[in-house]
Amino acid sequence: MTRVLFVCLGNICRSPAAEGVLRARAAANDIALTVASAGTGGWHAGEAADARMIKAAARRGYDLSSHRARQFSDADFHEFDLIVAMDSRNLADILDMAPSGHGAHIQLFLDFAGQSGCDTPDPYYGGPEGFERVLDLIETGADGLLSMLAHKRR
Ligand code: 4NP
Repeated sequence: MTRVLFVCLGNICRSPAAEGVLRARAAANDIALTVASAGTGGWHAGEAADARMIKAAARRGYDLSSHRARQFSDADFHEFDLIVAMDSRNLADILDMAPSGHGAHIQLFLDFAGQSGCDTPDPYYGGPEGFERVLDLIETGADGLLSMLAHKRR
């Protein structure tokens, strides 16, 4: 079973949303996946997802209520097959930590949404429309990621 880890900065907005959306869509398509998320920063470790993201995701049918933030760690390079960075800063931080010989594939999230090299914008300091925009991007990227995994299986 493929193990996918989404990584953002705080693990309270973007990566928990990506985790929830991918988990729901994989289940709807009968695709067995392990999905988790983490943040490169540890300031919010142990906290729930941002209340604004929980509400915006719930309106689209995704339940983020059980999420608790945690910090990305070295062990993740061995525990996940695919590590997905939500933006290029997250990607650089992950690559800086990568031990030699790890087996994980590391990729930028919006590569899966047909927007190679682009960042999933951080909605934390903005208004409600930022959360909707991020969820739109995440839904597109999650579908792209699922179809990549489905093709790999054939
Ligand atoms: P996230 O958003 O990386 O999408 O979870 C952020 C959440 C918190 C902070 C930054 C980004 N922060 O600086 O506390």
